[in-house]
Amino acid sequence: MKKILIIGCKGQVGASLMKLANSYNFEAIGFDHPHIDITNLDILNEQCSHLEIDLLINAAAYTAVDKAEEDEKAAYAVNDLGTKNLGLFCKAKNIPCFHISTDYVFDGTQGNYKEADPTNPVSIYGQSKLAGEASLKETWAQNVILRSCWIYSEYGNNFLKTMIRLAQTKDELGIVADQYGGPTSATDVAKALLDLTEKHFESVDVFGLYHFSGTPYCNWYEFAMTIFEEAFNVGLIEKIPTVNKLTTEQYPTPARRPANSCLDIVKIKSIIPEIDNDWKDEVKRIIKVLKEEQS
Ligand SMILES: NC(=O)c1ccc[n+]([C@@H]2O[C@H](COP(=O)([O-])OP(=O)(O)OC[C@H]3O[C@@H](n4cnc5c(N)ncnc54)[C@H](OP(=O)(O)O)[C@@H]3O)[C@@H](O)[C@H]2O)c1
Repeated sequence: MKKILIIGCKGQVGASLMKLANSYNFEAIGFDHPHIDITNLDILNEQCSHLEIDLLINAAAYTAVDKAEEDEKAAYAVNDLGTKNLGLFCKAKNIPCFHISTDYVFDGTQGNYKEADPTNPVSIYGQSKLAGEASLKETWAQNVILRSCWIYSEYGNNFLKTMIRLAQTKDELGIVADQYGGPTSATDVAKALLDLTEKHFESVDVFGLYHFSGTPYCNWYEFAMTIFEEAFNVGLIEKIPTVNKLTTEQYPTPARRPANSCLDIVKIKSIIPEIDNDWKDEVKRIIKVLKEEQS
């Protein structure tokens, strides 16, 4: 059985990887804060160099997009230096390093972004993630970088869970309706990474950059309305709040966000044609899980 080291195993994608690895017949070994700190190569080596592993997946990152604007040093430490350290660690062990990046490497003026399209991040978070991509590529050739978008899950904090909480406490809210992307379930991100891992172990050359997101593309308002309808249907919320459509200008945030960061997923589909990425199915599944947890 192949052994995979999962860094950031308590995050949304990390927890999904830990849950699913077994169904791919992989043994997953997970590490996260505070037992490991990817910004410190010595700690990484101390904790993990003795492990007999075949591949590493990095799901750890500094993901607080707005906070990063005033915490640039910390964002770069984790997203750039941390990613480089994992590349160095994998190089020393001669194992592949699979990593996750973001649609926020783009400015959002184009949409339908392909892997070769020019990047232009408009936030510190996006810049630090792009720096991490470059550092990993420079450090270790055996890498996969999977850029994804608007990740949500049953774990941690995310847009879906925020919407449920707001619907349980407010009668009226405003949601941005002029930013477009692809909501992506952390489970589907984990499956995409494990599918690529499986291909790698079948000797397919999978190294390189991929775009992966849920479809159909939508705006935050449409995403929120789907969440409210599903949550209302299963009784997770008692009523659907009145939702006003907002423009980005009407909802200022510390970090700028791309207006249209939809990712073209043709490349990954050419390798994994049956890849799961229907975000509405996943909203249904996750809302059922949350409902069961509540009762
Ligand atoms: N969330 C999104 O909408 C989104 C969209 C596109 C791409 N992505 C990318 O997808 C990946 C996974 O995102 P996610 O939403 O699953 O992240 P997440 O839920 O925020 O989890 C990240 C995990 O990394 C850990 N971590 C942070 N700094 C660390 C360090 N120095 N050493 C070790 N572990 C550390 C965190 O621990 P603590 O919580 O204790 O700090 C947390 O458990 C990231 O690369 C992210 O950039 C996310």
